[in-house]
Amino acid sequence: MKVLVTGANGMLGQDLCPVFEDAGAFVIETDADTLDITDKETVDKVLNDIHPDLVVHCAAYTNVDKAEEDLKTARLINSNGTENIAKACGKLGITPVYISTDYVFDGTKNEPYMPDDKPNPLNNYGLTKLEGENAVKKYCEKYYIARTSWLYGHHGKNFVETMLSLADRPEIKVVDDQIGCPTWTVELANGILKLLSKPYGTYHVCGSGFVSWFGFAKEIFERSGLKVNLLPCKTDEFPRPAKRPHYSVMENNSLCRNWQSALQDYLKLRDF
Ligand SMILES: NC(=O)c1ccc[n+]([C@@H]2O[C@H](COP(=O)([O-])OP(=O)(O)OC[C@H]3O[C@@H](n4cnc5c(N)ncnc54)[C@H](OP(=O)(O)O)[C@@H]3O)[C@@H](O)[C@H]2O)c1
Repeated sequence: MKVLVTGANGMLGQDLCPVFEDAGAFVIETDADTLDITDKETVDKVLNDIHPDLVVHCAAYTNVDKAEEDLKTARLINSNGTENIAKACGKLGITPVYISTDYVFDGTKNEPYMPDDKPNPLNNYGLTKLEGENAVKKYCEKYYIARTSWLYGHHGKNFVETMLSLADRPEIKVVDDQIGCPTWTVELANGILKLLSKPYGTYHVCGSGFVSWFGFAKEIFERSGLKVNLLPCKTDEFPRPAKRPHYSVMENNSLCRNWQSALQDYLKLRDF
């Protein structure tokens, strides 16, 4: 299987490419320099020349807070860029796997979100990612949309690394009124591989179980053997430009292990 990956230098891309290679795929890694997804002509040419079986579309504008003041750039990449990928895939009969987010939901539910629950994003990042989903559905007959959440991995800035970098502070306050599903990038990559044997459509691919950011931080420190003065607080105490859903737990179709086992493996591989 020939697989083209967009955003291959990103946090997910850097873990996903080797997982696909180990599974026997021939992987073509692209990033903004080799395949700028906002450049329609280049997207058409590259996909036409390479003609992969699958495009795993990881490239995105991922700065959730900055997207509040720069909707234009977020939309250019997440919405228009994805539309370019979707149109080319649809025309050439290539299956895209679009990586989407729990932030398409508003968090007002109190039981896990199902893939066909109605999205209602609270922020510009979620809105533009949803526009990307809609483009994939509009232009491709065969597609996978893989919604994931609270990603961490060895190749990017993420919550686990931020917490560990703060461990020597006298106290650390973390919000306990946002609940979601932490997901290790390697776990997500394996979940996407499993997805490929399922019917086309929209899926949730995230760590199973759920926890608040506070509970997640507690687990990170406990599993790392670090004693810190960790205090729960409310979202209102740390106002951020982008609103976040209070509850974005997604039903994960058993595509990933529980979030604690994945965290344990991540920490084991990490250099202390
Ligand atoms: N991180 C999370 O918690 C999270 C949660 C849910 C869903 N997701 C989704 O998961 C996917 C992977 O996220 P990630 O955390 O790995 O993000 P990331 O580390 O920010 O990687 C995104 C990649 O996209 C590239 N990119 C940006 N603009 C581009 C363009 N015009 N053309 C081609 N490439 C471009 C970036 O390159 P530059 O760095 O050079 O700009 C970067 O390498 C994204 O679709 C994201 O929306 C992430």
